[in-house]
Amino acid sequence: MRGANLNTEPTSGLSQHIVLMEKATLKKLVTIGRGGTGKTSFVALQTKYFIEERSTPLLLVDADPDQNLGEMVGVDLKEEGKMTISELLMETFLKEGGTTVGVVPTERIENRIWAQGMHEGDLFDFISVGTKWVEGCYCLPNAALKGALEAVTKNYKYVLIDSPAGLEHLNRRITSKVDDIFDVMDPSKKSFDHIDRAYRIATEVKIEFKNFYVVGGFRFPESLEDKAKSTLKFEFLGKIVRDEKVEELVLAGESLLNLPSDSSAYLSVEKIMNKAEHTKK
Ligand SMILES: Nc1ncnc2c1ncn2[C@@H]1O[C@H](COP(=O)(O)OP(=O)(O)OP(=O)(O)O)[C@@H](O)[C@H]1O
Ligand SMILES: [Mg+2]
Repeated sequence: MRGANLNTEPTSGLSQHIVLMEKATLKKLVTIGRGGTGKTSFVALQTKYFIEERSTPLLLVDADPDQNLGEMVGVDLKEEGKMTISELLMETFLKEGGTTVGVVPTERIENRIWAQGMHEGDLFDFISVGTKWVEGCYCLPNAALKGALEAVTKNYKYVLIDSPAGLEHLNRRITSKVDDIFDVMDPSKKSFDHIDRAYRIATEVKIEFKNFYVVGGFRFPESLEDKAKSTLKFEFLGKIVRDEKVEELVLAGESLLNLPSDSSAYLSVEKIMNKAEHTKK
């Protein structure tokens, strides 16, 4: 995908990748929410939306250690012989034992992401942050990774990030700047509370964002939409419709990109995304 619409002007340093002829106006969208509200399936359907809108090139980032996004969009990194970012970091900074010898760390990890961590597809590219993470004071990998991801993501029009609960890891490891946060909620009181908490965390961990949107998950009843609109401080974009076809595809381990464009879940996500895109600040 990154080969599309590109010229051959090299970027700075030793990185081999090339920049877009018409610099894409990069937008980073991150989806958050409590467990099981439908975040990952929402990101998969957002992907379908941008593909249908021809708003490409697209990069998908699976930032959840459980790594479900790949399956929901038909990508198996392992099968392709590709590594997760955590695995690449381990190899780059621990196994090789080096720190700043030769190529600067950011470029070293960036080059490895392009070469060994990236699924390149016709419709979208995909990377996964992975499970194993070396905790502790490994500021170098974290800083290097952030720098590398800044460089990698520059090539895309949209970067869609699926995350587990919590935003600290996002800031520390991946990015401190996004355009839109989509908070997918379930009907529980806890989920209503979660919205305020998520917003507070986002500001406390100093994630810069332009828009904070709330989306009703597939379990969110229509009867609560008015409550959501009147009590939440943030824009409620609508709800994702519960759709048996989604369940069937997930159960069969098939890509949600195969969902028919007239399926109720997809149509609801299309409506949500149209609203988000058209009310953008
Ligand atoms: N629109 C939908 N209609 C029906 N079922 C759905 C829909 N979206 C998701 N599901 C079901 O809910 C399950 C959880 O969805 P999903 O994995 O997207 O949630 P999640 O919030 O990402 O979960 P986690 O917190 O574990 O990452 C799926 O396995 C699927 O069966
Ligand atoms: Mg998920």
